[in-house]
Amino acid sequence: MSIIEVRGVRKTYRSGEADVPALRGIDLDIGRGQFLAVAGPSGSGKTTLLNLLGCLDSLDGGSIRIEGVDIASMDKTARARFRREKLGFVFQSYNLVPVLTVMENVAIPLELLGMDPKEIHARCMEVLEEVGLADKAKRRPGRLSGGQQQRVAVARALVKRPSLVLADEPTANLDSATGSSILDLMKAMNAKHGTTFVFSTHDRMVMDRASRLVLLHDGLVVSDEGVRT
Ligand SMILES: Nc1ncnc2c1ncn2[C@@H]1O[C@H](COP(=O)(O)OP(=O)(O)O)[C@@H](O)[C@H]1O
Ligand SMILES: [Mg+2]
Repeated sequence: MSIIEVRGVRKTYRSGEADVPALRGIDLDIGRGQFLAVAGPSGSGKTTLLNLLGCLDSLDGGSIRIEGVDIASMDKTARARFRREKLGFVFQSYNLVPVLTVMENVAIPLELLGMDPKEIHARCMEVLEEVGLADKAKRRPGRLSGGQQQRVAVARALVKRPSLVLADEPTANLDSATGSSILDLMKAMNAKHGTTFVFSTHDRMVMDRASRLVLLHDGLVVSDEGVRT
């Protein structure tokens, strides 16, 4: 079974008088464990698609099932729980909390799950080891490089062992060598834990690292290459 089934998905933004069609009928099946890049020029609908997959916005047509559950059929509470338990997010601008330490930032998703503090500490240290930042656990994010901050964000996304990680242009603020190492890290986590990754990019280097590449143009899928299952 696909972890994500997207069927005829449409999304139109209404800004003032004008309607802006952002997605115009997207069909996509994403198998468990895929490492999938969504590419396309600016304005092609990448962020809109990721936001819909992440239950951060509502669709105007079609349906999205994640692990067999139609997300439109869930009420607000169920959707929030679903996000908290199953999904991890990585953003272009890291979105770390500046006043918290690295460890405290990574702990946030587990605290939201109400996990025992000892267990939280152990899980955070384990994932910080995996991303190579165990020695920075007590630092504030502002004292780290951009690449290190994005590693913290990847650790935060992975700490609860989500089924799916959504990353919207995770390397856009990084130089190419640093961006490449973030991709290596995500790929390693994909291989080790079988976590499904869907990330957007318009960077050729990032597209080349994906095992499947879905290309959007004006809100439609114009090509889909690579491993589909
Ligand atoms: N909040 C919004 N209000 C109005 N139009 C929007 C909004 N967000 C995105 N759009 C429009 O939707 C289209 C797709 O945008 P987006 O999903 O952000 O594309 P991408 O991430 O590929 O750059 C663009 O035409 C964009 O201008
Ligand atoms: Mg975008």
